[in-house]
Amino acid sequence: MPPLIAIRGLRKTYRMGDENVHALDGVDLDFQKGEFVAILGPSGSGKSTLMHILGFMDTPSEGSIVFDGEEVARLDPDRRAWYRSHRVGFVFQAFNLLPRLTIEENVALPLLYRDGSDPEANLAAARAALERVGMTHRLGHRPGQLSGGERQRVAVARAIVGTPSIIFADEPTGNLDVKNVDRVLDLLGSLIKEGITVVLVTHDLAVAEKAHRVISMRAGLVQEDRVR
Ligand SMILES: Nc1ncnc2c1ncn2[C@@H]1O[C@H](COP(=O)(O)OP(=O)(O)OP(=O)(O)O)[C@@H](O)[C@H]1O
Ligand SMILES: [Mg+2]
Repeated sequence: MPPLIAIRGLRKTYRMGDENVHALDGVDLDFQKGEFVAILGPSGSGKSTLMHILGFMDTPSEGSIVFDGEEVARLDPDRRAWYRSHRVGFVFQAFNLLPRLTIEENVALPLLYRDGSDPEANLAAARAALERVGMTHRLGHRPGQLSGGERQRVAVARAIVGTPSIIFADEPTGNLDVKNVDRVLDLLGSLIKEGITVVLVTHDLAVAEKAHRVISMRAGLVQEDRVR
């Protein structure tokens, strides 16, 4: 099987004053369909930069990314937006839910950006996603009325509502207590049964242990790539 994502020679260089920061310094990686991958590495090693580029929120300086057979490293903005809306989901450490919207509306939000999207169908899809994370009893609540663990489950629902091929989770358990860490990890781990690829960034070795493959980054490079 060809990989879902094949990354070759990926570089991201930021210009800071008269200095170049090499956030990614030549990364080669493949991600397969249905893999559960953890990325470990010290602060500043390029983990978030990699997630943002693969999630179509940022563009690389150099290199190739083949996503399901299509070269996507230098797409035009419309096609990038299509990928962002149809093929990837994102989960953030700080949840990033909109405080004025209800839970149901927050989860439906990614569908709003699709051509010809229908509000009623979007809310129905949001309710189905919320059911999968066990949050249907809070549909009309606002994020501020939920616990941290509940907010992150809602954020996972928002990440899966668009039926993505891959979910990028950047420190998704960083703000959670132990009980909720396990619950959110079990939830993310369960997605691979549906063929979704899950890539999780963490500082926590115990969290990385839940994944089937652990990639260690250092100074913008993959230092180790180990299948457990
Ligand atoms: N927008 C930016 N402008 C300039 N430098 C940046 C920018 N974003 C990231 N960097 C630099 O790129 C390097 C990699 O940053 P990145 O956020 O990817 O690290 P990280 O591994 O996610 O770290 P952490 O574990 O602290 O989240 C760092 O040296 C950072 O300072
Ligand atoms: Mg980071």
